[in-house]
Amino acid sequence: MSILKFIVVLFFFVSIFESSNAQLSATFYASTCPNVTEIVRGVMEQTQRNDVRAGAKIIRLHFHDCFVNGCDGSVLLDNAAGIESEKDAPANVGIGGTDIVDDIKTALENVCPGVVSCADILALASEIGVALVGGPSWQVLLGRRDSLNANRSGVTPDIPSPFESLDVMIPQFTRKGLGLTDLVALSGAHTFGRARCRTFNQRLFNFNGTGRPDPTLDPNYLQTLRRLCPQGGNGGTFAKLDKSTPDQFDNHYFTNLKNHQGLLQTDQELFSTSGSSTIGIVNNYANNQYKFFDDFVCSMIKMGNVGVLTGTKGEIRKDCKRVN
Ligand code: HEM
Ligand SMILES: *[C@@H]1O[C@H](CO)[C@@H](O)[C@H](O)[C@H]1NC(C)=O
Ligand SMILES: *[C@@H]1O[C@H](CO)[C@@H](O)[C@H](O)[C@H]1NC(C)=O
Ligand SMILES: *[C@@H]1O[C@H](CO)[C@@H](O)[C@H](O)[C@H]1NC(C)=O
Repeated sequence: MSILKFIVVLFFFVSIFESSNAQLSATFYASTCPNVTEIVRGVMEQTQRNDVRAGAKIIRLHFHDCFVNGCDGSVLLDNAAGIESEKDAPANVGIGGTDIVDDIKTALENVCPGVVSCADILALASEIGVALVGGPSWQVLLGRRDSLNANRSGVTPDIPSPFESLDVMIPQFTRKGLGLTDLVALSGAHTFGRARCRTFNQRLFNFNGTGRPDPTLDPNYLQTLRRLCPQGGNGGTFAKLDKSTPDQFDNHYFTNLKNHQGLLQTDQELFSTSGSSTIGIVNNYANNQYKFFDDFVCSMIKMGNVGVLTGTKGEIRKDCKRVN
């Protein structure tokens, strides 16, 4: 073979290799860390025994990761020279689960050092956390790499606040390539986990300057929430995002919305914004858990693809809290 031919063939293979690296795949670690799923599951199962919120914390981290500069582990970085941690942005204050990520990372570094990204840990552990408490199970696409920076000023514009109206939230999802169905299905993650009083107590006494509570709140549920979150309290008390089955992954979030028992303003708006096409989707999921699970899986895969770094971009962090 002439040297020229050799170079052409070489380029051909290099370009196949590069392009196959440019998208995620379920078998990404098949040769480099074949037991990755088992290892992540082991830590998640162990953690779940002492912390029912383990899965909820992880999936929220994954969401906050993907919506700010893509699913690149940026949310996990601590403050350091040149890095303003996203964890200090208002939407992330008190965010949980980073200790669980560290435990998973340690377990993986023991078996396949320098191989599995922190961004992939979030995606994998999200699926495991959902499946562990009754939710759907799916093949997680892998191959994300970790960012070399964080984007604190990206958090406020990109992560919806719980005081937002639906018409502000929808474009926040659209900007990430996610539509109305994704918005409703992914909000279904509020079928488990907790939210602090300060994230919904604006609904309880003087909603939007009306001197009255949020009219879309069921009166009995309102009384329960007022007892939990009295006026003038510090707002740090935790409430169940799903009052009926707080630690299970099911479609009760949607039946709650139909009963005017959604916890956050943004939850209830999906059902109570008159004329919104989200109402039909909520009804559909409340009536059909299979449909919710199917759509949720689809939307999780879509969200997990947002702005990923692949190939030789970024790095595989050794410690999820800092760049190498
Ligand atoms: C649609 C817009 C969304 C808004 C406005 C929103 C807002 C919130 C708020 C305010 C909390 C409570 C945080 C606190 O107390 O500090 C929360 C918790 C949570 N969020 Fe969302 N969220 C949204 C979408 C999502 C999505 C897409 C997911 C995942 C796919 C998700 C998963 C969770 C989970 C599991 C928790 C509980 C976490 C825990 O127990 O620690 N949320 N969310
Ligand atoms: C994979 O991990 C699981 C859980 O940690 C362990 O029980 C199993 O022995 C491991 N298998 C291999 C081939 O390392
Ligand atoms: C941070 O996020 C904002 C909002 O999405 C974006 O406009 C900005 O370009 C990002 N900055 C960096 C350095 O990535
Ligand atoms: C709050 O009040 C403003 C002005 O009165 C109104 O335009 C807006 O729609 C209200 N928001 C909600 C969520 O009711």
